[in-house]
Amino acid sequence: MPDLAAAQATLVDPQCSLDDRLRALYTVKNEGGKTIEQARVLMAAVDTTVSVLMQHELLYNLGQFQITDEVVPYMKYILSRKTADGSTFHYNVVSRHEAIESLGAILCRSAGVDAEMVEDLRQVLIDLATESIEPFVEIRESAMLALMRMDTPILSTSSTPAAGGASSYVAPTGVASAVHPFVSVDPSPSFPAEADDSILKSYQSPENKARVQERIAVLVKVLETGVVSDADPDCVMSPSATEKAKELGYYADQCSLWNRYRAMFSLRNINTAESVLAICDALQKDTSSALFRHELAFVLGQLEHPVSGKVLGEVIENVKEHSMVRHEAAEALGAVAEADGLAVLEKYCNDSEQIVVDSCVVALEMHAYWSKFKTTTSTDE
Ligand SMILES: [Fe+2]
Ligand SMILES: [Fe+2]
Repeated sequence: MPDLAAAQATLVDPQCSLDDRLRALYTVKNEGGKTIEQARVLMAAVDTTVSVLMQHELLYNLGQFQITDEVVPYMKYILSRKTADGSTFHYNVVSRHEAIESLGAILCRSAGVDAEMVEDLRQVLIDLATESIEPFVEIRESAMLALMRMDTPILSTSSTPAAGGASSYVAPTGVASAVHPFVSVDPSPSFPAEADDSILKSYQSPENKARVQERIAVLVKVLETGVVSDADPDCVMSPSATEKAKELGYYADQCSLWNRYRAMFSLRNINTAESVLAICDALQKDTSSALFRHELAFVLGQLEHPVSGKVLGEVIENVKEHSMVRHEAAEALGAVAEADGLAVLEKYCNDSEQIVVDSCVVALEMHAYWSKFKTTTSTDE
Protein backbone atom coordinates (compact mmCIF):
# COMPACT_ATOMS: atom_id res chain seq x y z
CA MET A 1 0.00 0.00 0.00
CA PRO A 2 2.01 2.97 -1.25
CA ASP A 3 -0.31 5.50 0.44
CA LEU A 4 0.19 3.87 3.79
CA ALA A 5 3.99 3.71 3.45
CA ALA A 6 4.11 7.38 2.42
CA ALA A 7 1.87 8.35 5.35
CA GLN A 8 4.03 6.41 7.81
CA ALA A 9 7.13 8.22 6.48
CA THR A 10 5.43 11.63 6.74
CA LEU A 11 4.22 10.93 10.25
CA VAL A 12 7.74 10.48 11.62
CA ASP A 13 9.38 13.20 9.50
CA PRO A 14 9.99 16.44 11.45
CA GLN A 15 10.59 18.30 8.18
CA CYS A 16 6.98 17.82 7.07
CA SER A 17 4.35 20.39 8.06
CA LEU A 18 2.19 19.80 11.10
CA ASP A 19 -0.87 19.72 8.93
CA ASP A 20 0.56 17.05 6.59
CA ARG A 21 1.67 14.98 9.57
CA LEU A 22 -1.75 15.09 11.19
CA ARG A 23 -3.37 14.06 7.93
CA ALA A 24 -0.82 11.23 7.72
CA LEU A 25 -1.82 10.14 11.21
CA TYR A 26 -5.39 9.55 10.06
CA THR A 27 -4.24 7.74 6.92
CA VAL A 28 -2.08 5.43 9.06
CA LYS A 29 -5.00 4.76 11.39
CA ASN A 30 -7.61 4.28 8.68
CA GLU A 31 -5.59 2.40 6.07
CA GLY A 32 -3.24 0.51 8.35
CA GLY A 33 -5.89 -0.40 10.90
CA LYS A 34 -5.58 -0.38 14.65
CA THR A 35 -2.71 -2.86 14.75
CA ILE A 36 0.44 -3.08 16.82
CA GLU A 37 2.52 -2.26 13.70
CA GLN A 38 0.68 1.04 13.22
CA ALA A 39 0.77 1.71 16.97
CA ARG A 40 4.58 1.45 16.80
CA VAL A 41 4.66 4.12 14.08
CA LEU A 42 2.53 6.41 16.25
CA MET A 43 4.75 5.83 19.28
CA ALA A 44 7.86 6.53 17.19
CA ALA A 45 6.36 9.82 16.04
CA VAL A 46 5.79 11.27 19.54
CA ASP A 47 9.39 12.34 20.14
CA THR A 48 9.88 13.67 16.60
CA THR A 49 7.82 16.76 17.36
CA VAL A 50 7.70 19.53 19.94
CA SER A 51 4.09 20.29 19.04
CA VAL A 52 1.86 19.42 21.98
CA LEU A 53 -1.04 19.35 19.54
CA MET A 54 0.58 16.58 17.55
CA GLN A 55 1.86 14.67 20.58
CA HIS A 56 -1.53 14.61 22.23
CA GLU A 57 -3.29 13.57 19.00
CA LEU A 58 -0.85 10.65 18.72
CA LEU A 59 -1.45 9.60 22.32
CA TYR A 60 -5.23 9.96 22.01
CA ASN A 61 -5.28 7.78 18.90
CA LEU A 62 -3.05 5.17 20.50
CA GLY A 63 -5.69 4.78 23.21
CA GLN A 64 -8.39 4.36 20.60
CA PHE A 65 -6.48 1.32 19.27
CA GLN A 66 -7.20 -0.39 22.64
CA ILE A 67 -3.99 -2.42 22.44
CA THR A 68 -2.26 -3.43 25.67
CA ASP A 69 1.09 -4.88 24.52
CA GLU A 70 3.79 -2.23 24.23
CA VAL A 71 1.24 0.58 24.43
CA VAL A 72 0.46 0.34 28.15
CA PRO A 73 4.16 0.43 29.17
CA TYR A 74 4.64 3.31 26.75
CA MET A 75 1.82 5.31 28.36
CA LYS A 76 3.37 4.73 31.78
CA TYR A 77 6.65 6.07 30.42
CA ILE A 78 4.89 9.18 29.02
CA LEU A 79 3.29 9.81 32.40
CA SER A 80 6.43 9.45 34.47
CA ARG A 81 9.26 10.81 32.28
CA LYS A 82 10.96 13.80 33.88
CA THR A 83 13.04 16.63 32.41
CA ALA A 84 16.84 16.16 32.39
CA ASP A 85 17.26 18.03 35.71
CA GLY A 86 14.37 16.09 37.24
CA SER A 87 12.53 19.27 38.23
CA THR A 88 9.33 18.59 36.35
CA PHE A 89 7.62 16.32 33.85
CA HIS A 90 9.01 16.01 30.33
CA TYR A 91 5.64 15.93 28.60
CA ASN A 92 3.09 18.71 28.74
CA VAL A 93 -0.02 18.31 30.90
CA VAL A 94 -2.23 17.90 27.81
CA SER A 95 -0.16 14.97 26.55
CA ARG A 96 -0.08 13.39 29.99
CA HIS A 97 -3.85 13.77 30.26
CA GLU A 98 -4.24 12.02 26.90
CA ALA A 99 -1.99 9.17 28.08
CA ILE A 100 -4.28 8.64 31.08
CA GLU A 101 -7.40 8.77 28.95
CA SER A 102 -5.82 6.18 26.68
CA LEU A 103 -5.18 3.89 29.64
CA GLY A 104 -8.87 4.27 30.55
CA ALA A 105 -9.89 3.41 26.98
CA ILE A 106 -7.61 0.36 26.96
CA LEU A 107 -8.71 -0.85 30.38
CA CYS A 108 -12.44 -0.55 29.75
CA ARG A 109 -12.27 -3.46 27.33
CA SER A 110 -14.49 -6.08 28.85
CA ALA A 111 -11.92 -8.87 28.69
CA GLY A 112 -8.46 -9.87 27.67
CA VAL A 113 -6.50 -7.46 29.82
CA ASP A 114 -4.03 -9.18 32.12
CA ALA A 115 -5.24 -9.04 35.74
CA GLU A 116 -1.80 -8.15 37.10
CA MET A 117 -1.51 -5.30 34.64
CA VAL A 118 -4.88 -3.98 35.77
CA GLU A 119 -3.84 -3.92 39.41
CA ASP A 120 -0.54 -2.26 38.55
CA LEU A 121 -2.33 0.41 36.53
CA ARG A 122 -4.89 0.91 39.24
CA GLN A 123 -2.05 1.89 41.57
CA VAL A 124 -0.50 4.17 38.93
CA LEU A 125 -3.86 5.89 38.48
CA ILE A 126 -4.49 6.18 42.21
CA ASP A 127 -1.11 7.91 42.61
CA LEU A 128 -1.89 10.24 39.71
CA ALA A 129 -5.22 11.08 41.32
CA THR A 130 -3.58 12.01 44.64
CA GLU A 131 -2.88 15.67 45.31
CA SER A 132 0.25 15.13 47.40
CA ILE A 133 1.82 13.15 44.54
CA GLU A 134 0.50 14.78 41.37
CA PRO A 135 0.67 18.59 41.11
CA PHE A 136 -1.70 19.12 38.16
CA VAL A 137 -5.45 19.12 38.73
CA GLU A 138 -6.14 18.20 35.08
CA ILE A 139 -4.09 15.04 35.62
CA ARG A 140 -5.70 14.16 38.94
CA GLU A 141 -9.18 14.51 37.45
CA SER A 142 -8.24 12.49 34.36
CA ALA A 143 -6.83 9.73 36.56
CA MET A 144 -9.96 9.53 38.70
CA LEU A 145 -12.14 9.32 35.59
CA ALA A 146 -9.94 6.54 34.22
CA LEU A 147 -10.21 4.65 37.51
CA MET A 148 -13.98 4.81 37.30
CA ARG A 149 -13.86 3.96 33.61
CA MET A 150 -11.87 0.80 34.19
CA ASP A 151 -14.50 -0.42 36.62
CA THR A 152 -17.42 0.57 34.40
CA PRO A 153 -17.00 -1.78 31.49
CA ILE A 154 -18.54 -1.39 28.12
CA LEU A 155 -21.04 -3.97 27.07
CA SER A 156 -21.18 -4.30 23.35
CA THR A 157 -24.73 -5.02 22.25
CA SER A 158 -23.52 -6.38 18.93
CA SER A 159 -21.72 -9.30 20.53
CA THR A 160 -21.55 -11.00 23.89
CA PRO A 161 -18.47 -9.88 25.80
CA ALA A 162 -15.71 -12.44 25.48
CA ALA A 163 -14.91 -14.34 28.64
CA GLY A 164 -11.48 -13.70 30.06
CA GLY A 165 -9.21 -16.59 31.02
CA ALA A 166 -8.18 -17.28 34.60
CA SER A 167 -5.43 -14.67 34.39
CA SER A 168 -7.57 -12.10 32.63
CA TYR A 169 -9.35 -9.18 34.14
CA VAL A 170 -13.06 -9.54 33.67
CA ALA A 171 -14.71 -6.28 34.47
CA PRO A 172 -18.18 -6.43 36.04
CA THR A 173 -20.83 -6.42 33.36
CA GLY A 174 -24.24 -4.89 32.93
CA VAL A 175 -23.23 -1.37 33.87
CA ALA A 176 -22.89 0.49 30.63
CA SER A 177 -23.30 0.11 26.95
CA ALA A 178 -20.86 1.16 24.24
CA VAL A 179 -23.62 1.88 21.79
CA HIS A 180 -23.61 5.43 20.56
CA PRO A 181 -23.62 6.95 17.11
CA PHE A 182 -20.03 8.22 17.34
CA VAL A 183 -16.91 6.18 16.70
CA SER A 184 -14.89 7.19 19.76
CA VAL A 185 -14.12 5.16 22.87
CA ASP A 186 -15.21 7.78 25.39
CA PRO A 187 -13.77 8.54 28.85
CA SER A 188 -17.16 7.71 30.36
CA PRO A 189 -20.30 6.06 29.06
CA SER A 190 -23.52 8.00 28.61
CA PHE A 191 -26.50 7.11 30.78
CA PRO A 192 -28.16 3.88 29.65
CA ALA A 193 -31.17 5.56 27.98
CA GLU A 194 -28.86 7.36 25.57
CA ALA A 195 -26.93 4.20 24.82
CA ASP A 196 -30.01 2.47 23.50
CA ASP A 197 -30.53 2.69 19.75
CA SER A 198 -34.30 2.47 19.81
CA ILE A 199 -34.64 5.12 22.52
CA LEU A 200 -32.31 7.43 20.60
CA LYS A 201 -34.31 6.90 17.41
CA SER A 202 -37.55 7.64 19.23
CA TYR A 203 -36.05 10.96 20.40
CA GLN A 204 -35.91 12.05 16.76
CA SER A 205 -39.62 11.77 16.06
CA PRO A 206 -41.59 15.04 16.33
CA GLU A 207 -44.34 13.58 18.55
CA ASN A 208 -41.76 12.94 21.27
CA LYS A 209 -40.54 16.53 21.30
CA ALA A 210 -41.92 17.32 24.76
CA ARG A 211 -40.47 14.12 26.23
CA VAL A 212 -37.05 14.88 24.76
CA GLN A 213 -37.16 18.41 26.15
CA GLU A 214 -37.93 17.01 29.57
CA ARG A 215 -35.05 14.57 29.30
CA ILE A 216 -32.67 17.36 28.21
CA ALA A 217 -33.75 19.41 31.24
CA VAL A 218 -32.88 16.48 33.54
CA LEU A 219 -29.47 16.08 31.90
CA VAL A 220 -28.77 19.82 32.10
CA LYS A 221 -29.36 19.63 35.82
CA VAL A 222 -26.74 16.90 36.10
CA LEU A 223 -24.32 18.99 34.02
CA GLU A 224 -24.78 21.86 36.44
CA THR A 225 -24.81 20.04 39.76
CA GLY A 226 -22.96 16.80 39.09
CA VAL A 227 -25.69 15.05 41.05
CA VAL A 228 -27.54 12.09 39.60
CA SER A 229 -31.15 11.72 40.62
CA ASP A 230 -33.97 11.08 38.16
CA ALA A 231 -31.51 10.71 35.29
CA ASP A 232 -30.10 7.44 36.41
CA PRO A 233 -30.59 6.40 40.01
CA ASP A 234 -28.87 3.01 39.78
CA CYS A 235 -25.86 3.79 37.75
CA VAL A 236 -23.40 6.02 39.50
CA MET A 237 -20.25 3.94 39.85
CA SER A 238 -19.34 0.34 40.26
CA PRO A 239 -18.88 -0.73 43.91
CA SER A 240 -15.10 -1.16 43.55
CA ALA A 241 -14.65 2.30 42.01
CA THR A 242 -16.80 3.74 44.78
CA GLU A 243 -14.63 2.00 47.36
CA LYS A 244 -11.41 3.30 45.83
CA ALA A 245 -12.78 6.80 45.52
CA LYS A 246 -13.91 6.79 49.16
CA GLU A 247 -10.56 5.44 50.24
CA LEU A 248 -8.86 8.37 48.56
CA GLY A 249 -11.22 10.84 50.16
CA TYR A 250 -12.52 12.62 47.09
CA TYR A 251 -15.65 10.66 46.53
CA ALA A 252 -18.11 13.54 46.26
CA ASP A 253 -16.15 15.80 43.94
CA GLN A 254 -14.88 13.20 41.55
CA CYS A 255 -18.18 11.47 41.45
CA SER A 256 -19.77 14.71 40.36
CA LEU A 257 -17.27 15.08 37.50
CA TRP A 258 -18.04 11.52 36.41
CA ASN A 259 -21.77 12.26 36.45
CA ARG A 260 -21.24 15.46 34.47
CA TYR A 261 -19.32 13.49 31.84
CA ARG A 262 -22.10 10.95 31.56
CA ALA A 263 -24.76 13.64 31.15
CA MET A 264 -22.61 15.33 28.51
CA PHE A 265 -22.33 12.12 26.45
CA SER A 266 -26.07 11.57 26.84
CA LEU A 267 -26.73 15.04 25.42
CA ARG A 268 -24.28 14.39 22.59
CA ASN A 269 -26.05 11.16 21.69
CA ILE A 270 -29.46 12.88 21.65
CA ASN A 271 -27.99 15.19 18.99
CA THR A 272 -30.71 17.77 18.47
CA ALA A 273 -30.23 21.56 18.25
CA GLU A 274 -31.54 21.82 21.85
CA SER A 275 -29.12 19.23 23.21
CA VAL A 276 -26.21 20.88 21.36
CA LEU A 277 -27.19 24.25 22.83
CA ALA A 278 -27.28 22.70 26.30
CA ILE A 279 -23.66 21.55 25.81
CA CYS A 280 -22.72 25.05 24.57
CA ASP A 281 -24.32 26.58 27.63
CA ALA A 282 -22.35 24.33 29.96
CA LEU A 283 -19.14 25.17 28.09
CA GLN A 284 -19.79 28.85 28.67
CA LYS A 285 -20.95 28.67 32.27
CA ASP A 286 -19.03 25.85 33.91
CA THR A 287 -16.46 26.88 36.48
CA SER A 288 -15.98 23.42 38.04
CA SER A 289 -13.27 21.98 35.79
CA ALA A 290 -11.18 22.95 32.76
CA LEU A 291 -10.94 19.25 31.96
CA PHE A 292 -14.72 19.04 31.75
CA ARG A 293 -14.90 22.15 29.54
CA HIS A 294 -12.27 20.75 27.16
CA GLU A 295 -14.38 17.62 26.75
CA LEU A 296 -17.52 19.70 26.17
CA ALA A 297 -15.66 21.49 23.36
CA PHE A 298 -14.37 18.17 21.98
CA VAL A 299 -17.91 16.78 21.89
CA LEU A 300 -19.10 19.89 20.01
CA GLY A 301 -16.43 19.07 17.42
CA GLN A 302 -17.90 15.59 17.07
CA LEU A 303 -21.38 17.03 16.64
CA GLU A 304 -20.35 19.62 13.98
CA HIS A 305 -23.62 21.49 14.56
CA PRO A 306 -23.82 25.06 13.23
CA VAL A 307 -25.59 26.33 16.38
CA SER A 308 -22.38 25.83 18.37
CA GLY A 309 -20.25 28.19 16.22
CA LYS A 310 -20.92 31.36 18.23
CA VAL A 311 -20.00 29.90 21.62
CA LEU A 312 -16.94 28.11 20.25
CA GLY A 313 -15.70 31.43 18.82
CA GLU A 314 -16.21 33.13 22.18
CA VAL A 315 -14.26 30.41 23.98
CA ILE A 316 -11.29 30.87 21.62
CA GLU A 317 -11.43 34.62 22.18
CA ASN A 318 -11.42 34.24 25.96
CA VAL A 319 -7.68 34.40 26.58
CA LYS A 320 -8.23 33.70 30.28
CA GLU A 321 -9.64 30.27 29.46
CA HIS A 322 -7.33 27.21 29.78
CA SER A 323 -5.40 26.66 26.54
CA MET A 324 -6.59 23.03 26.49
CA VAL A 325 -10.19 24.27 26.26
CA ARG A 326 -9.41 26.94 23.66
CA HIS A 327 -7.54 24.35 21.58
CA GLU A 328 -10.54 21.99 21.52
CA ALA A 329 -12.85 24.91 20.71
CA ALA A 330 -10.64 25.85 17.74
CA GLU A 331 -10.64 22.31 16.37
CA ALA A 332 -14.39 22.06 16.89
CA LEU A 333 -14.97 25.34 15.07
CA GLY A 334 -12.92 24.01 12.15
CA ALA A 335 -15.17 20.95 12.06
CA VAL A 336 -18.35 23.05 12.18
CA ALA A 337 -16.99 24.80 9.06
CA GLU A 338 -19.40 27.72 8.87
CA ALA A 339 -18.24 30.90 7.13
CA ASP A 340 -18.56 33.04 10.27
CA GLY A 341 -16.02 30.89 12.13
CA LEU A 342 -13.18 31.87 9.78
CA ALA A 343 -12.29 35.29 11.18
CA VAL A 344 -11.69 34.09 14.72
CA LEU A 345 -9.58 31.13 13.57
CA GLU A 346 -7.47 33.43 11.40
CA LYS A 347 -7.04 35.91 14.23
CA TYR A 348 -5.86 33.35 16.81
CA CYS A 349 -3.25 31.86 14.49
CA ASN A 350 -1.16 34.51 16.29
CA ASP A 351 -2.09 33.58 19.86
CA SER A 352 0.54 33.51 22.59
CA GLU A 353 -0.23 29.84 23.36
CA GLN A 354 1.40 27.50 20.83
CA ILE A 355 -1.29 24.81 21.14
CA VAL A 356 -3.95 27.40 20.24
CA VAL A 357 -1.88 28.60 17.27
CA ASP A 358 -1.37 25.04 15.98
CA SER A 359 -5.06 24.23 16.49
CA CYS A 360 -6.22 27.32 14.59
CA VAL A 361 -3.85 26.52 11.69
CA VAL A 362 -5.12 22.94 11.51
CA ALA A 363 -8.73 24.08 12.01
CA LEU A 364 -8.45 26.44 9.04
CA GLU A 365 -7.37 23.50 6.88
CA MET A 366 -10.25 21.46 8.22
CA HIS A 367 -12.59 24.35 7.61
CA ALA A 368 -11.47 24.64 3.97
CA TYR A 369 -11.85 20.90 3.47
CA TRP A 370 -15.33 20.63 4.96
CA SER A 371 -16.59 23.83 3.34
CA LYS A 372 -15.61 22.46 -0.07
CA PHE A 373 -17.45 19.26 0.77
CA LYS A 374 -20.54 21.18 1.88
CA THR A 375 -20.51 23.26 -1.33
CA THR A 376 -20.22 20.15 -3.47
CA THR A 377 -23.03 18.44 -1.59
CA SER A 378 -25.36 21.40 -1.83
CA THR A 379 -24.67 21.83 -5.59
CA ASP A 380 -25.23 18.11 -6.05
CA GLU A 381 -28.62 18.25 -4.38
FE1 LIG B 1 -8.64 15.16 26.04
FE1 LIG C 1 -7.35 17.78 22.07
